[in-house]
This record gives sequence, C-alpha cells and structure tokens, in this order.
Amino acid sequence: MKNKVKVQQSIWINPENSKIVEIIDQRFLPHQLVIEQLKSWKDSEVAIREMQVRGAPLIGVTAAYGMYLACVEAKAHAKSDSFFLEVAITLKASRPTAVNLAWAVDRQLKLINNLKNREELISTSLKLAQQISDEEVNNSAKIGQHGLALLQPLIEKKNGEPLNILTHCNAGWLACVKHGTATAPMYAAHRAGVPVHVWVDETRPRNQGARLTAWELSQAGIPHTVIPDNTGGHLMQHGLVDCCIVGSDRTTRKGDVANKIGTYLKALAAQDNGIPFYVALPASTFDWEIRDGVKEIPIEERNSEEVKFIQGLYEKNIIKVLISPPESPAINYGFDVTPAHLVTRLITERGVCQANETSIHELFPEY
Ligand code: MRU
Repeated sequence: MKNKVKVQQSIWINPENSKIVEIIDQRFLPHQLVIEQLKSWKDSEVAIREMQVRGAPLIGVTAAYGMYLACVEAKAHAKSDSFFLEVAITLKASRPTAVNLAWAVDRQLKLINNLKNREELISTSLKLAQQISDEEVNNSAKIGQHGLALLQPLIEKKNGEPLNILTHCNAGWLACVKHGTATAPMYAAHRAGVPVHVWVDETRPRNQGARLTAWELSQAGIPHTVIPDNTGGHLMQHGLVDCCIVGSDRTTRKGDVANKIGTYLKALAAQDNGIPFYVALPASTFDWEIRDGVKEIPIEERNSEEVKFIQGLYEKNIIKVLISPPESPAINYGFDVTPAHLVTRLITERGVCQANETSIHELFPEY
C-alpha cells in the first residue's frame, strides 16, 4: 500500500443509509485497507470480539452503534426490554478489559429504558452513538494539546533535535475514531513543526504496533522505527528514549493503568532509567468503581493460536504461519496492569494530573 490513504476515521455511518455502520477492518492493515459494513448488533459484537475494531475508545463507540442497531432490529415492544438486556450483556462480554465498552453500552441502555416509542428510540439512540463518537474525537484532540504542553520542557531540552518517544500497541486514530490518545500529542507536535521520532513496539502477539501504529505514522509522515518488544530497555539505557506515551484500556480511581500486555515492563524500564512514563486516556477509560488495578481489573485471555501463529504478507497474500512446535502450549493474556507509582503523569481531555486519587479527583470531581 504505497499511496497515502484519505480515510482518517475508524468508524462512521454510511452516508446513504443510516442503518449501516462502516468500519475499517483492522485485521488486514497495513497490507489491505478493507471497509466492512455492520448491519446488525451481532455484526458489531463480532467486530469487537474478532478485533476487526479494537482500541478502548473505538470498542466503546462500536458498542454504542451496536446498541443503536439493536434498536433498529427490535421488533415488538413487549419483548424488547429483555432483548436489549441480552444484547447489552453479550456486547459487554465481547472484550472484558476495556471499560469504555460497558460505559458506552450502559449509556445507551439508560436511554433505551426511558423511551418506549420505537421510532423515537431509533433516532435517539443513533444520536447518542454519534454523540459518544464525537465526544471521543474531541477528547482525543484535547489530549493532543495537553500532551504537547506537557512535552514542552523535554522539547526545549532537545534544542531542535528530534524528541524520541516510545509507544506500545496502537493508541492512535485507528483505536479512537480520530487523532488517538497516545499518538495525539505526537500528531500535535508534528503539526506544530516539532521534530519527533517514535519508537514503535511491535506488540506481540497481534503486532498492533508494527502493523497499525507504524502505518498511521507512516501515513502522517512522522519519522518512526519499529522495534521488537524487548528493545525498549536497551534504548532507554543508552539515552535514546526521551519519554514513553501509551494509552489505556482501563484506569482505576487511584491511577493503576491496564494497557496492552508488555506495557508494565516498559514502565519498569522507564523508572529504572529516570524516563517519564505518560499515559494518555479520555474520561471514558476510567473505571470509577475500583482502586486496585492488579486485583480488580479483569484481564482478557485470548486464543493461544494468536501466540503460536504470526500473520504477514507473502507474495501479495496475507498468510499465517506457525512459529512454535504445534504441540507446545501457549498462553495469551491481552493486558497487564502498570501500578500508579510507575506512571509519571496522566494526560486527559481535562488536562494533566498525577496518577493518584487526589490529583485525578481534582480533574474529575463529579465522579
Ligand atoms: O487489544 P487491543 O488492540 O484492543 O488493545 C489496545 C490497547 O491496549 C491500546 O493501547 C488501548 O486500547 C489504548 S487505545 C487508545
């Protein structure tokens, strides 16, 4: 895929038919840009579970559209309450760690429970899904601005040399409708003419870094280098990383951060080397109900085949190859938890705060 693509949004309503939701099927990037249509709530559930869409904010938005599609499908008022509840439970179970999913479904459910007129329900739930999507777009844009301000002292220290930022997984526009969370400050810096270079962790087993973040940065013309997941510590020891910025799938009241598996190891290496470790996230990624991330955040365990096989391009076809003995067992935890004490700052749409309960509460007093 040599040409720059125009699409820069990961989900939208079909302009000719508002009962169809369109997504980029992220499983085939960077080699093929495939657009898929979601025509039923079940299509949304499959898209989330099979990771056609992924990334916490986008999972939430897709689920919000899934609830809207359920409103379109709901046949009889009499049975609809249990139907919507069943849809909500199934959607929430499709990926358990990203809290944005339950947050978006519950917002729709509240609205559905208060409206009985079917036509009104359809139009109002569509509006809410679009509102949730717009909120995430605006939040990402603000995270970009706050993140850029936070980076300013580091940028000044570099005296015109590129700022080296390490990121893990994909917390870019593909994961968040537009702009991204971790990538938003990078895009903002690039737009402001600040030279940046991004170290992109490949992010095994599904390689969201090598496939998706690298693709996004390449489309945006931002200098970057893909590295094996094990390389970050070495780069940090040799002064080649100025800061880390990652996203989050769920962050607790006291600032423990669940993110893609391997994030914790980067935070440990960053602390050992005195390198700031920033986490960028919107309010929808906070789980206000819990404090202790290690004990309380459910960690998704995915199919071990994702570890044993690797996907790539071979003679113009996307293929999967086995990389371990077929009989060897493998285990595939999707996320880990970085304790708050390893997080230098949280970057949110309301500003920057420390990863502790008091500082988070100052930014979000209503929770
Ligand atoms: O399993 P994924 O690809 O959905 O995991 C995504 C991540 O871990 C991202 O870093 C996280 O969702 C933040 S996205 C803005």
